[in-house]
Amino acid sequence: METLILPNGDKVPKLGLGTWGMGERRGDLSVEVKAIRHALDVGICLLDTAEMYGDGGAEEIIGLALKGIAQKPYIVSKVYPHNASSNGVLAACDRSLNRLGVERIDLYLLHWRGAIELQETIEGFERLVENGKIGAWGVSNMDASDMAEIWSTPGGVACQTNQVLYNLSRRWPEDRLIPEMAQRRVPVMAYSPLEQGRLAADSRLQEIADEAGMQPLDLALAWVVSQKDVFAIPKSVSPQRIDAFVQAVMKPLHSDLFAALEMAFPPPSLGAPIEML
Ligand SMILES: NC(=O)c1ccc[n+]([C@@H]2O[C@H](COP(=O)([O-])OP(=O)(O)OC[C@H]3O[C@@H](n4cnc5c(N)ncnc54)[C@H](OP(=O)(O)O)[C@@H]3O)[C@@H](O)[C@H]2O)c1
Repeated sequence: METLILPNGDKVPKLGLGTWGMGERRGDLSVEVKAIRHALDVGICLLDTAEMYGDGGAEEIIGLALKGIAQKPYIVSKVYPHNASSNGVLAACDRSLNRLGVERIDLYLLHWRGAIELQETIEGFERLVENGKIGAWGVSNMDASDMAEIWSTPGGVACQTNQVLYNLSRRWPEDRLIPEMAQRRVPVMAYSPLEQGRLAADSRLQEIADEAGMQPLDLALAWVVSQKDVFAIPKSVSPQRIDAFVQAVMKPLHSDLFAALEMAFPPPSLGAPIEML
């Protein structure tokens, strides 16, 4: 699996598994645990979650899936903005660690920007790095001006990624965010790369995928992952769909296909505003 390098030197795979929607219903537990184990078996070794998902339930599902597994995947979790004070972030991280059943979260993100000063959150993150509870920290749902503010805040240059909504139908980050992050060699983590499955119904994508003999969502994922310095975290609880994620990112997109997608899904206009789900 192709990897990219975070500013701190960590090598991370370009494909991870998302978990939003997991841990919400008891009856789905075994399907979800099996899906995560299947993802690990087929080489997906990055899992994305958040204290918000299923009110901690998604982290618990990961904890169950990792029981008895010696080789832990790279774990990304997120703190709610209202828990992101310098002390609040320590307590929230402990709760997440307990639910996940691990000693360390590899990458801990501020889920979106709230009322608490960035400086406070960064101080909390730094303490978590110092005491070994997280490997590194980053942010989510930030636009280019937020990133500029983070980089000019003391300690802010330690930010490892910004997880944002990015897919064929949501190309807003290409206007300023991706180029400015690339200048600092900070990769973008693309969430909802399949537009939560809705891209399957897009006739432009269907037509291009039909010609290429591919499934539309596989093509959509391949497009995101083929962007430089971008990694993606699609979600599925279906082993077959997870297999398809892996297949989709294994070979580079042919330049003709790339060009057809660029034509069908135009790049953002200048000053495109942030989009989020
Ligand atoms: N930072 C943030 O604010 C933020 C926001 C949103 C998401 N995220 C993260 O990013 C991850 C991915 O985003 P997402 O879950 O919103 O959306 P996504 O990955 O774009 O799409 C996931 C949805 O598509 C369905 N799906 C997957 N493969 C499919 C296929 N071949 N055919 C039809 N449907 C298919 C899945 O259903 P099944 O499970 O039934 O297959 C699921 O409902 C999340 O799980 C979460 O970890 C972060």
